[in-house]
Amino acid sequence: MNLFDLESPAFLIDAARLERNSKMMLERSKKLGVRLRPHIKTHKSVEIARIQQGGGEGPVTVSTLAEARFLLTAGFKEITYAVPISPQKLASVRTLAEKSLAFNILLDSEDAADAVERAGRTSGLCLSVFLKVDCGYHRAGVDPSSAESRTLAERLEDSKWIDFKGILTHAGQSYHARSRAEIQDVAEVERSRMVQFGQSLRSAGISCPEISVGSTPTAVHARHLEGVTEIRPGNYIFFDKYQADIGTCGLEDCAVSVMTRIIGVYPKEKRLVVDAGALALSKDPGAVHIVGETVFGLVLDHPTLKVVGLAQEHGSIMGKAEKDVKGFRVGDALRILPNHSCLAAALHPWYFLVDGEQVVDRFQPVRGW
Ligand SMILES: Cc1ncc(COP(=O)(O)O)c(C=O)c1O
Repeated sequence: MNLFDLESPAFLIDAARLERNSKMMLERSKKLGVRLRPHIKTHKSVEIARIQQGGGEGPVTVSTLAEARFLLTAGFKEITYAVPISPQKLASVRTLAEKSLAFNILLDSEDAADAVERAGRTSGLCLSVFLKVDCGYHRAGVDPSSAESRTLAERLEDSKWIDFKGILTHAGQSYHARSRAEIQDVAEVERSRMVQFGQSLRSAGISCPEISVGSTPTAVHARHLEGVTEIRPGNYIFFDKYQADIGTCGLEDCAVSVMTRIIGVYPKEKRLVVDAGALALSKDPGAVHIVGETVFGLVLDHPTLKVVGLAQEHGSIMGKAEKDVKGFRVGDALRILPNHSCLAAALHPWYFLVDGEQVVDRFQPVRGW
């Protein structure tokens, strides 16, 4: 089947680039001397999770229990659920942990530790827990320089109902970078804060076997990762316009696009309307700190066109001049590289793998929580 025979909007994955990105991170983790535990929230697909391991079912990171169930059923038995645990999910976590070889959860508060211990006392099951650390993103996690973080780590280490795995962070501030050099600096902050915190815990007699870091920009560009035991990048398998804009990758590394069709041509307004709206591309504004304006993705092969607005099912594309849109007809296809591939992918029920214009496979991801 030719990709232009698909109904639009359709989420396309360039099969060769997907393989190349996977290989790049497998080689990089080997060179850096760390375990690769890819974050599968980017695609939520069993087939792509296997490609990220170079085939087979290795350790993975997930962001929903639905992803965990989906991968566990497919044979992935070492899972980290990398969102701080909410106590109400512990019954589901127990079921998943009983079926896994290793099922790790995260927490960053005494309240959550109380809940895990209560659940352990009730069920008799000891859960594997990471202490979530804030290395500068300020989204979640304990401040590693605070007395409270040490006290919480001691409690996790001493608890009968907790197997303390170590410390885990996500340097999301790498997305504010403007260049490869700035990403490298963030990667060093991420690494050094975590390694220093790990060392201070160990010198206080707390075991802290794992030091887990991970974001795509820092995993791609870290100068070295001495002291770190694992990385958890996810987005690298697709990349996207945002990553290309901040210098994580080149546009030629981006493996995904959304195929859309023109449903309106308005030459006097220099405007086209396409059938990819916010529910096909997501409303992620992109790297505005670099691009200087909000555009909702890159129209491939048409440098004068910009995606300037999105309604639920409509996308508005502007040309610079009337001639930029005049040649188009209703029904013509365009391909758009999304700003944020993880959010865009999550909106589609199927992914179509393409080799040039040929559709060579299709994958069905999991949805929901
Ligand atoms: C806890 C955690 N680990 C790893 C990742 C993967 O980072 P990236 O999306 O930059 O690949 C994320 C992404 O948000 C995350 O939240």
